[in-house]
Amino acid sequence: MATITVRPNGSYKVDGDDVKLLDWNGQEYQVPKHPFALCRCGASTKKPFCDGTHRSIGFQAAEAAIAPDNTEKPAP
Ligand code: FES
Repeated sequence: MATITVRPNGSYKVDGDDVKLLDWNGQEYQVPKHPFALCRCGASTKKPFCDGTHRSIGFQAAEAAIAPDNTEKPAP
């Protein structure tokens, strides 16, 4: 199973040994290591991988997942 973690103000961390990263032609990227990070800021010189540039450009994106609302609603 693969897990993708959205890092605050940074990349997407991709974790899992059975993960393939393909381009639009179906060609596989050579993944340098596991886990690996994909660029989310658009400024990496090694796209689609993160090269850490997000730190120097002050990329900000810290959206968090919204927890499900588990409160019970009254019956109509
Ligand atoms: S997210 Fe790291 S360089 Fe873009």
